[in-house]
Amino acid sequence: MSSKSRGKFITFEGLDGAGKSTQLKKLAAWLRKKGIDVITTREPGGTALGSRLRAVVLNSRTSGLSARAELALMFADRAQHIDEKILPALARGQWVLCDRFSDSSEAYQGGGRELGSQAVLELHRILCHNLKPDLTILMFSDVAASVARAHRRNTAKSKHSKKDENRFEKEKEAFHHRVMDAFLAIVKREPQRVVKVDARQAIPKVHQEIAKTVEERFFSH
Ligand code: TYD
Repeated sequence: MSSKSRGKFITFEGLDGAGKSTQLKKLAAWLRKKGIDVITTREPGGTALGSRLRAVVLNSRTSGLSARAELALMFADRAQHIDEKILPALARGQWVLCDRFSDSSEAYQGGGRELGSQAVLELHRILCHNLKPDLTILMFSDVAASVARAHRRNTAKSKHSKKDENRFEKEKEAFHHRVMDAFLAIVKREPQRVVKVDARQAIPKVHQEIAKTVEERFFSH
């Protein structure tokens, strides 16, 4: 193993349509300017196996998938992702920015699908070496507006590509409210790790807040 110190692991969470991936890219660019070696990745789908699992779990043609089977597939994706990509990168000293991680399982399967947090936390401990992000940015957004934004984006994209509205985006608003409530419960439980950012603000303002948090947390001594 290299003598470099371990990289930092930062995750982005929130509803679909909250602007996570835009902010993740902006933070990656900001870190690279500081000379940090960064990789960006996502769940589900961060590995070759993961993209196949992603196709199954997100495709709206997948019907009859039970909530527990869905949870198991998310964790199969995650276990592979951690072992194949995240831990080796951190060990090399790279910083890993990940679009969604276990908090998404707690919010969507635990909250949205009402499986509860306990099952998710236990699977995380057993299958994921209990790997905790050094920092999680929760992109807080208005539920109705995020659902509408994700919907607009998908219908616009589908004219040019095969992307369709995923199984989660097709869920009713009540589902997304349970998801957001579960995210907020995680912030309450782990305020040190999870920082809530108001994603309803303009993109540059959101980025500024995220960069400030990262600066304070990792660069000021
Ligand atoms: P995302 O990649 O953000 O979707 P898109 O590229 O369509 O914007 O996330 C995929 C979906 O998977 C999202 O609706 C949330 C869901 N999800 C879970 O339900 N549980 C999980 O553990 C993860 C990682 C994602």
